[in-house]
Amino acid sequence: MQSKDLRKHFFNYFHSKGHVRVPSSSLIPDDPSVLLTTAGMQQFKKYYTGELDALADFGSQRTATIQKCFRTSDIEEVGDKTHLTMFEMMGNFSFGPVGSDEPEDDGKEGYFKRAAIHFGYQFMTEVLGINPDRIYVTVFGGDAETPFDQEAYNIWKDELHLPEDKIRKGPREDNFWGPTGEEGPCGPCTEIYVDDVEVWNIVFNEFYKDRSGVYNKAERPGIDTGMGFERLSVMLEGVDNVFESEIFRPIMAKIEELAPHVEGSVKRIFADHLRASTFLIADGVVPANKEAGYVLRRLLRRVMAYQVKYDVHANLFEEMMPVIKELFGDIYSEINETDRIIGIFETEKSKFQEAVARGLKEMEKIFEQNREEKHVTGEQAFNLFSSYGFPMELLKEFVEAKGFTLDEAGFQKKIEQHQEISRAGAGNKFGGHGLVLDTGELKAGNEEEAKQVVRYHTTTHLLNWALRHEFGEEVHQMGSDINPERLRFDFSFDRKLTSEELQTIENLVNDKINENLPVYFQEMPKEEAEQLGAVAFFKHKYPSVVKVYSIGSEASGGVVSREFCGGPHVEYTGEIGSFKITKEEAVSAGVRRIRATIG
Ligand code: ALA
Repeated sequence: MQSKDLRKHFFNYFHSKGHVRVPSSSLIPDDPSVLLTTAGMQQFKKYYTGELDALADFGSQRTATIQKCFRTSDIEEVGDKTHLTMFEMMGNFSFGPVGSDEPEDDGKEGYFKRAAIHFGYQFMTEVLGINPDRIYVTVFGGDAETPFDQEAYNIWKDELHLPEDKIRKGPREDNFWGPTGEEGPCGPCTEIYVDDVEVWNIVFNEFYKDRSGVYNKAERPGIDTGMGFERLSVMLEGVDNVFESEIFRPIMAKIEELAPHVEGSVKRIFADHLRASTFLIADGVVPANKEAGYVLRRLLRRVMAYQVKYDVHANLFEEMMPVIKELFGDIYSEINETDRIIGIFETEKSKFQEAVARGLKEMEKIFEQNREEKHVTGEQAFNLFSSYGFPMELLKEFVEAKGFTLDEAGFQKKIEQHQEISRAGAGNKFGGHGLVLDTGELKAGNEEEAKQVVRYHTTTHLLNWALRHEFGEEVHQMGSDINPERLRFDFSFDRKLTSEELQTIENLVNDKINENLPVYFQEMPKEEAEQLGAVAFFKHKYPSVVKVYSIGSEASGGVVSREFCGGPHVEYTGEIGSFKITKEEAVSAGVRRIRATIG
């Protein structure tokens, strides 16, 4: 089956079951607590709660979409045969109240578990003709928070007659979904696997998780499903992977023509990033140093860096536009604005070239300085990367081309160190031998010193927050160093701070200390943390479940700071005492340092 037929069959089937086809929403969601659209249900959040009425707006409580989605968590994985940043998700939705849960019903009322499971199975086996022998399913096995989904289990067993060994019980991590952003519908889910590949996730929105993290029983249970369009296409076309499917084949062919000598993984990076960035720009994202704009910049710069590295002179962006337009222009009319999209590519290209040129100048200085030893240290490489925006993908190439060696391990270590404390997931010890922060560095020799270091650690979070609060979210932590006597905090900023500004920052931190705000952590999927806007160091590869430290709660008047961080921290900001900035100075171009004490 061809992918365009898959689109058609999907909509036809759900139309026959009373669903109204709704267009994909933008990749930029309405919900400010979410960076990019990651799931089909996002545009419908207000219908689940009843705040908006689907019957009035769509003429049915049932809708179906094929939604453009983007998941930042997979950027680093792109290059293999399965990962994509942007993908399409097919989904059917029901927004309660539940009228009829009869699978045969083709009405406009809300439905729930029975109909949702029957629809899923019927579509797979009857419409797509997938042999039931290739299928197994999972259901939520239950945990301390919410129970085993017996109802879904029974539907699979008694109504669809799946053998018991094909109904597996899964953990929360796989079988409980949502919410997206700070609050929203969520619930247990059942997943359909074909040939061991998960293709469909059917979520039973039984709960509404509020901002304080409490799962409230939803007033109107709803259905939210998501089926990977690309995965299913691969299966139905019988090809090996998505880059060989119709969705990508013309894009890969063009890359083959323009850059035949480039290795396979880089071709796949080109294909994914060119397609995804076209869609991001089409939806109004522009390259920037924060949020969605930063994600776009990262994709574009990665493509350009590989172009330099592999000596690809073709204008990949411009050449690819007509191919992408031909493939998707009928479905997503926004990508037909090719002139505007190409204009944005061109502007970013000039900026990239300037950054490389600036970095190269600085690199020449280093070559001159180190001409004896013919070596570039980790610190120098890190400085090129952090202060001059020199692309990591190219650093090694340029150093080697000059006949110099690079302390790669040192460079890596530097990057890791500067993620310092805000690195998530790593363990930390607070015991007889003193304190090891999650930088891995021993910071204190005794209990009293350790306590002081912990106070300083929380202070860096407040300082990071205050700087971003005052100067905007472009300000990024570039490093920090703590000992029991003082803290040092490096951040991106391109000029000296005035004494008034320093006073403002100091006051902001002291205000938050005086408010005696609670400091606490939650462990959550990395993606959820990103959606919450937790501050992270972008280069670090975080584990899939991360620890996020927050300062302030809804009850205390709102969350002030939220960072990916392994801890440890004080329990209340009042434990810090008073905060004083002792010095502000330059570290390198575009990086400033604040030294401060508490007491
Ligand atoms: N919203 C669910 C998902 O993204 C269906 O998996």
